[in-house]
Amino acid sequence: MSRSFCGLLLFSLSLLAVVPGGTAKRALATSLPRRINFDSDWRFYRGEAAGGESLDFNDAEWEPVKLPHDWAIEGPFDRQLNPETGALPIFGTGWYRKSFFLPANDSQRFFTIMFDGAMANAVVWINGHRLGGRPYGYSSFYFDLTPYLHFGKQRNLLAVRLTPEENSSRWYPGAGIYRNVWLDVTGPVHVEEWGTYITTPKVSPEQATLAVQTSLRNELDKGTNILLRNTVFDGSGNRVAQTSSQGTQISARFNRVISTQLTIPKPQRWDIDHPYLYTLVSEVLDAGQIVDRYSTSFGVRTIAFDTRKGFLLNGLPRRLHGVCLHHDLGALGAAVNRRAIERQLQIMKAAGVNAIRTSHNPPAPELLEYCDRLGLVVMDEAFDMWRIPKVPNGYSKYYDEWSERDVRDMVRRDRNHPSIILWSIGNEIPEQDSPDGWKEAKRLVGFFHEGDPSRPTTSAFNDWKEAIHNHLADQVDVPGFNYQPMRYEEIMRAHPQWAIFGSETASCVSSRGVYHLPIEKYEKHPSHQISSYDIVAPPWAYCPDVEFTYQDRFPNVMGEFVWTGFDYIGEPTPYFESDNKDPNDWPARSSYFGMVDLAGFPKDRYYLYQSQWTSKPMVHILPHWNWQGREGQNIPVMVYTNAQEVELFLNEKSLGKKTRGSEPQEIPVGPNVSPDKKFSTRYRLLWQVPYQTGTLRAVAYSGGIEVASHEVRTAGAVAKIVLVPDRSVIQADGDDLSFITVRIEDKDGNLCPAADNLVHFQITGVGAMAAVDNGNAASTEPFHADQRRGFNGLALLVVRASEQAGEIRVTATSDNLEQAEIDIRTEAPGRTNSDPIPSQNDDTLLKVPSL
Ligand code: GAL
Repeated sequence: MSRSFCGLLLFSLSLLAVVPGGTAKRALATSLPRRINFDSDWRFYRGEAAGGESLDFNDAEWEPVKLPHDWAIEGPFDRQLNPETGALPIFGTGWYRKSFFLPANDSQRFFTIMFDGAMANAVVWINGHRLGGRPYGYSSFYFDLTPYLHFGKQRNLLAVRLTPEENSSRWYPGAGIYRNVWLDVTGPVHVEEWGTYITTPKVSPEQATLAVQTSLRNELDKGTNILLRNTVFDGSGNRVAQTSSQGTQISARFNRVISTQLTIPKPQRWDIDHPYLYTLVSEVLDAGQIVDRYSTSFGVRTIAFDTRKGFLLNGLPRRLHGVCLHHDLGALGAAVNRRAIERQLQIMKAAGVNAIRTSHNPPAPELLEYCDRLGLVVMDEAFDMWRIPKVPNGYSKYYDEWSERDVRDMVRRDRNHPSIILWSIGNEIPEQDSPDGWKEAKRLVGFFHEGDPSRPTTSAFNDWKEAIHNHLADQVDVPGFNYQPMRYEEIMRAHPQWAIFGSETASCVSSRGVYHLPIEKYEKHPSHQISSYDIVAPPWAYCPDVEFTYQDRFPNVMGEFVWTGFDYIGEPTPYFESDNKDPNDWPARSSYFGMVDLAGFPKDRYYLYQSQWTSKPMVHILPHWNWQGREGQNIPVMVYTNAQEVELFLNEKSLGKKTRGSEPQEIPVGPNVSPDKKFSTRYRLLWQVPYQTGTLRAVAYSGGIEVASHEVRTAGAVAKIVLVPDRSVIQADGDDLSFITVRIEDKDGNLCPAADNLVHFQITGVGAMAAVDNGNAASTEPFHADQRRGFNGLALLVVRASEQAGEIRVTATSDNLEQAEIDIRTEAPGRTNSDPIPSQNDDTLLKVPSL
């Protein structure tokens, strides 16, 4: 049996935004485009500010900030604060104010302020008038400003008060207006916010049928007769389909949904390997004049969930090689940055990841936009809790009043992204254990299905028996199970009608570059680090091999979402237990779960997944080869590869060949996996190598031919710093970033695997320091600084471009090390008006009829 969901696609218009400088004077010079980025020229105050909403309040002493802004990431780390949320000040009161002027000649247009997300409990005022609020920090929300605005010489004042609470989250949520803000400017008859819904009910190689619903709003005091013209452009800007509605009457101050159908000939499918996007341009014509234009990006694809074949994308089975991601961007905190999101996803893709779970909340729109562009399917999750709290001040406080609204808005905002394949109603919801928990599951599923009948729902159940017994699993379309590979067979046998998957798997923990000998078990280590032999996991969890084994045994299980792709701030298990504050756990303050550390440097585990999930030949060897003092002693050497065979060489002497899978290795596991706490894995090769200095090299062969190699070399004394930028040309847009890896090497260019030298950075030219890190989960050094210690030989420096094109010079120095210097070039952003697709920000089209 298979349940099919035909897909669709658009994303919000943030990409097409124009930034006219945000300042009053520049805005006055021109008529306004439809979407204006509203991130500049805010003033921020951390604390209570009675009367902060009023126009004449004096904010001269407040800090000037540019959004997105996360006040908590500046720290400092504080051992009195909760390590579960990163030991950072995520709570308190924060005020933001922004003054702006609007051109007198725009007084007949309509203005909506859109917040992609504000953490948390936002209340918003315009010119002293309270517009409303939004408790859930992960929801996007908007207000109509029009009735309260001033035009011409009189100033407008937008004020936002946030009151994020202590103990409100199980991870680092950030604090502040941490996502983008937009001012949307329309004519009196216009497409509503999130006002298009595109599905592809029929797709064949010859043609795709698009069903488009467009929600229009007439703000006029009189009825009007408009025409809606929908045009589809392909990825190169060619017009491939167009339709116009008949004259449509919309009554005064009324909304109307118009349904149209279009046909795209020979459609290109959106797929993981071919993420092809179309654009729908919706134009509203009044008396022959275009009065509004709204763009929607979308893809053409089909999805299905089959009990025998698993997940099908465009009819073909695709195993979900997924990762769970929290929303922080490491040292940048929760503050959204396009490049930082793109980089995270690119690093994930290179491991063979093809699916992202937005654990455990609706993501920033930019994340979905990049998943659309990069070819990553998404499990989009609403909540970490419903009515029953997991933490004292969690979402449960707001659930009754806001859950329906939060879900409906989430679906409306996101339902056109081709990347989204599943809506999740929640993660490990305690209501699993309630006999009537199914009622709540049913209610939420209903909201998703009403807003988007084209996709199935899921939930991540950890208490698998109770979730089934209490019928929550029956309510969702595709049940997900957390940490239960040992039960897949039993569940599928009892429920042959279910397509299932591992909604959360592994939770293995490790620190990049750390190897303790002998190989340790799950226990705290005085260093607050965890060995990277990839076998350590908390009692509910297991190493990656266990999931691989069961996924291979049951190919109809749709795949998995590993906990986690990246380390994240907060939840520093095992140096943190929610019910026990152990003072010895300090200063652990971020997670060890990632296959990549917080700075974005892959741990060994990354390559274990890559060996399972990619086919381009690779081989990876661990540990490092600096074991002075252990000469002659056996060092366990592990090799991960996707090739058939590997030969290991120590100083060019062969230590023999091993064939992948032929010599199962016994590794320790918890009693949750096996009563005798042993597990046999076929996914790694192991040698015991008597240590001598030199070079250890792994050579991988397929069909007898060398296809890949990797070596580790004994490093000598630290000698120099080497700077390696991920991109040495970036955009001069005030937002783009270069992520610079700081390597501490010996004189011959070998990474010094224990180096922790303090490195100082100096930046001159047209850029500035954005953050520093080194991936050490137990460091209290601030992320906003001009220096950082190395952690096992590496550190990270993030540099931000200004809006001026030119050169950024980066210099790194450290006592007794040869310094390093590099240049990053910044170039003016590409001109969007060369885009063949008509811009919704083309201000010539806005001939507004008089009111
Ligand atoms: C899961 C939970 C995640 C995270 C993880 C750590 O049970 O859903 O949010 O806490 O455990 O292993």
